[in-house]
Amino acid sequence: MLPPDPDKMIVNAARGRGVISRIQFLVLTAARQIWQKLTGTLVKVLPQSVYRFLTSWRWKDPATIITNGQRDTDKQVDIPLPDVFKSPEVIRELLKGSAFLTREDRLASRNNTNQRLVSAFGLDNAFTTNALSHKDEFVTRAKQLLRLDQAKWRAVAGNAEQLVRFGITRQEERAEGVVNVSRLVQTTVLLAVMPILFPENEVAQLTFEADEAAFSAAQAINRIWAASKTCQVAEGELQGLLRELKVLLTSPDGKNPLNWIIPAYETLWRITFRCFIEVHYKNPEQQEHFKEVFRHHVADPMSAEFEDHVNSNCGVSCSNIVNEALRLYPPTKKIYRATPGYPTDSSTYPAADIEALHRDPAIWGADADIFRPTRWASEKMMPVEVRRRGIFLPFGMSPSLCPASQVFAPRIIALLVGVMDSVMAQQCGSTWKIVEDDGIFRVGPLRNDRDAYLSLSVERCEEDVSIHAA
Ligand code: HEM
Repeated sequence: MLPPDPDKMIVNAARGRGVISRIQFLVLTAARQIWQKLTGTLVKVLPQSVYRFLTSWRWKDPATIITNGQRDTDKQVDIPLPDVFKSPEVIRELLKGSAFLTREDRLASRNNTNQRLVSAFGLDNAFTTNALSHKDEFVTRAKQLLRLDQAKWRAVAGNAEQLVRFGITRQEERAEGVVNVSRLVQTTVLLAVMPILFPENEVAQLTFEADEAAFSAAQAINRIWAASKTCQVAEGELQGLLRELKVLLTSPDGKNPLNWIIPAYETLWRITFRCFIEVHYKNPEQQEHFKEVFRHHVADPMSAEFEDHVNSNCGVSCSNIVNEALRLYPPTKKIYRATPGYPTDSSTYPAADIEALHRDPAIWGADADIFRPTRWASEKMMPVEVRRRGIFLPFGMSPSLCPASQVFAPRIIALLVGVMDSVMAQQCGSTWKIVEDDGIFRVGPLRNDRDAYLSLSVERCEEDVSIHAA
């Protein structure tokens, strides 16, 4: 009789539902971790040949075998379509990188999946380097840049307000009063994050030329990103993008600015856009309450009220609304890891399906597809609790947890949504007419792909007509 296969046992436990399976899974995973720690110590003291002999049988990541049951790294087997994991247990294992003994291997398993970004954008940052020291330096610098005091937050709010005001006026001039909302969000986010990411550089003044360059850069980033997934990026695209960025960043330090712009802008504009649509157009009953919550935040972006749902009129805090947007519309829909037993081809890397995890009715209830920020206003949904359960991962998890996750990202999303709302309200007595809705009112959650709702447009409305009457 064959001895029991530990990997299969873990997989079966992870697949099963109920208390026994959970306990089995936890015990087996803990046993594997102890074994890994032990072999991790052995690698430092034993000669390579002895170490290799001892570790020739070792616990592998359940993710490597969960679908086929019998995947074996040593035997070259035919591997079918990429595996996409949706259960919190397996996602946690995949993202923690439990299959790897060293930090270097864990980093490589993440960054090998990002090599397309090296050729597409010329990136050399925490997402692409396999050198631990370089990655650590980048993350430390990111934490420094994103730690803003009250005065800096106020400056970000003031700058964002000017950007939205200018963006609206510019678009109205060039398109006979029509404002394309996605363009407004993209240019605002790009120009708002630049002074934060490049405090030592000079960012261009608001001019016609800068606005055009920001939009061209935003469009080029989207095009290159999409092309990098499916085919070769068109020749000259990257050079064109870098030229546009030179208009915006007047004293470049010689390094590729995209190293910072891609992780920050790429995620932020899409979630800001969707959060804005949900708050402004999709929830008529709560709209006024939500807007009120955001306006408070704009007035004091560092306030403790950000988390406080008890004192708000509608029983939800700013943080509850932003979390709900991040749950339904995680900008990083899937997180990939190169894992032993899989070919090193980007189309077949196993993936943690964050979007599916965030919309799983077994976890979030029958209304998982509905934007309902009040679900966050309970003890069970405290940030620490959801992280512990591994069910809410818009920012990934340790050892690659996003440095913007705790404070910067949620607060800047709320700030940008709030500023857009207050500027539009001030400029037009709070009523705008939708010229092109691009399907935002269709039943169900909004589409979460990058080219959705790009034609959503509004224009000022003379009479006091509700935006939903359009
Ligand atoms: C809503 C906004 C954001 C979202 C949803 C987001 C999402 C993520 C996710 C999912 C990861 C983990 C990737 C993985 O495990 O492979 C990550 C890591 C990271 N993010 Fe963000 N991010 C956001 C904003 C930012 C901003 C503004 C910065 C600033 C530069 C940033 C910098 C980073 C860095 C450096 C890492 C790598 C951390 C490491 O490897 O230890 N992110 N982010």
